Amino acid sequence: MTQEEDAQMEEEDAEKAQHYENMDEMPYELQKYWHQRYLIFSLYDDGIMFTKSAWFGVTPEPVARKIAAHIALAAPKHKTAIIDAFGGAGGSAIALARSGRWDQVFAIEKDPEVIKCGKRNAEIYGVSKKIWWIQGDCFDVLKARFKGVGKNYVIFASPPWGGPQYTDTTIFDLKKMEPYSIEHIYSNFAKVTKDIVLYLPRNSNLNQLVKYASADREMPIIHYCMKGASKALCAYVGEFSYPLQNGANEAETAIQE
Ligand SMILES: C[S@@+](CC[C@H](N)C(=O)[O-])C[C@H]1O[C@@H](n2cnc3c(N)ncnc32)[C@H](O)[C@@H]1O
Repeated sequence: MTQEEDAQMEEEDAEKAQHYENMDEMPYELQKYWHQRYLIFSLYDDGIMFTKSAWFGVTPEPVARKIAAHIALAAPKHKTAIIDAFGGAGGSAIALARSGRWDQVFAIEKDPEVIKCGKRNAEIYGVSKKIWWIQGDCFDVLKARFKGVGKNYVIFASPPWGGPQYTDTTIFDLKKMEPYSIEHIYSNFAKVTKDIVLYLPRNSNLNQLVKYASADREMPIIHYCMKGASKALCAYVGEFSYPLQNGANEAETAIQE
């Protein structure tokens, strides 16, 4: 086997869905996530699965739970379903399903190995029957399957941020977010529903978000923190009620139980 083939095989292996049993199985650059594994998924030892790239993107459980509680409270009452457009390993979709607020939770994920992780992780949390996983490109799937019916839906979007480099600048330019700019995401998703929760880097340029606010109502933008530091922010675009805090603790407790 040539060196190139060897390297390629290693790369392919790294992107397979698997349960990591110990830190030595993980590439060096991922080992910091190993120490946070129970914060990311409290049921990690039950067989939680990741691909290499899924470790980078997953929303840690306490953050996912708080966001799910906020969405449950603040979304317009007539909304009956939610679509997690970038389902990943299921961190967000599992919390949304556990909130009990939704008749249906859809999770779209384009990577077949990552979707395996999401499905397995949802099983571990006992919500596999509550999440409809759809493998595909969310822009295509939303257009083909949800345009028209989507007015009764909320979209939750935690897109890729272009890797850990988002921390390299003080203010993150959402127009240059890779591979999808904020405009690309919003303009496509707004064709399905106007109620969209955007999960974005904590240093996102807020001036680029305010244009999505309507003239006559507030648009909450909330930082979600762990251990005293912001992990990310969510922009609640559309007709979400504000303030979100009333009842949020009760809603979150309900998710834990
Ligand atoms: C930041 S992660 C989402 C993490 C997820 N919220 C969680 O908590 O596990 C982004 C995910 O979007 C997926 N993705 C990227 N582009 C996509 C697309 N066009 N359609 C569907 N999924 C996509 C990636 O494979 C990745 O798993």
